Amino acid sequence: MPQSLPSVIISGTGAYLPRRVVTNDDMAKIVDTSDEWIRTRSGIAQRRYAGPDESTSFMATAAAEQALQTAGAQACEIDLLIVATMTPDMPFPSTACLVQSRLGLGAITAFDIQAACSGYIYALNTASNLLRSGAYKKALIIGAEKMSSILDFEDRSTCVLFGDGASAAVLEISEAQGTGILSSITGSDGSNPELLYQPAGGCIQPASAESVLARQHFIKMNGKEIFKQAVRVMGQVSTDILDRHGYSSDQVDLLIPHQANMRIIDSLAKRMGLPMERFHNNLDRFGNTSAASIGIALDEARRAGRMGPGDLILLVAFGAGLTWGATLIKWQ
Ligand code: ACO
Repeated sequence: MPQSLPSVIISGTGAYLPRRVVTNDDMAKIVDTSDEWIRTRSGIAQRRYAGPDESTSFMATAAAEQALQTAGAQACEIDLLIVATMTPDMPFPSTACLVQSRLGLGAITAFDIQAACSGYIYALNTASNLLRSGAYKKALIIGAEKMSSILDFEDRSTCVLFGDGASAAVLEISEAQGTGILSSITGSDGSNPELLYQPAGGCIQPASAESVLARQHFIKMNGKEIFKQAVRVMGQVSTDILDRHGYSSDQVDLLIPHQANMRIIDSLAKRMGLPMERFHNNLDRFGNTSAASIGIALDEARRAGRMGPGDLILLVAFGAGLTWGATLIKWQ
């Protein structure tokens, strides 16, 4: 990366988790599963489900308000808003527009990014580069998902894995050189979309009585293949971004991976040669919150004081698309 580009820092973070806690035992009352199966295969013990009054834009707004507060920023200073979600309030208008209104922001640039579980990294990458270009001064990025709205509660292989929530970050230019978001890598491969998808609701299969009856509006997933790809791609993109900046994996102070499956995270730790103490995980409490997951963990880690000045932080994600991404941060 050219050194002359200005630094972009994460000046504030926030998160929102719905009130309703759903344990594995609760899931076992809905589908043929058990606490033991879910814990050993995924690492998840419980997740949160949003209620009717907790839409994606509602959760996004609550997380954003916290991020603005911790950044010491006023809503009126934000001139760029990006929401990463695969569970928008509705197909259009964008959830970002709804959040713009809820937060009372001005007539700013607001749009959604759809990169599934990699959405937070895609949003960080897009916003930080738009800030560096000089086009905007202060950005708000949000990852927000109401995954429970697209779960098939007759499919035990998917419904136990996901949860709802939102996370947000305020990004701004900093005078300090060599600090903040060093860079991001994002990638995609759309050659096999059926590995993880929601078949109906788009123009190929618009909503109809038949599509609803056939349960086509819910997540379908080839879990085994996704698992294999996740292990490979998360390891590769982590190595690539460290190489780009001349770091080795043992220099990473904190690694925050997308929270999909503890066995995927264990494999990543082995591949990187890093002990689990260098990771921040919350999969056990929140399950896979898709685009919200990395931001929720980042917010928790910041509040727990896990990041100090000069620490090297690596965020890494993988999701439907397929999509993937990593962001390397030198904490300010
Ligand atoms: N409870 C009990 N048994 C179950 C459950 C359940 N909830 N789900 C599946 N099983 C059964 C299966 O039916 C199968 O039984 P069978 O052998 O009699 O057919 C058995 O358990 C084994 O199933 P597998 O699919 O082989 O289980 P596996 O060890 O692969 O674990 C899992 C499944 C947890 C889904 C795993 O493959 C995984 O985590 N994959 C990655 C998923 C992921 O990360 N998705 C998110 C990507 S990010 C995004 O963009 C949304």
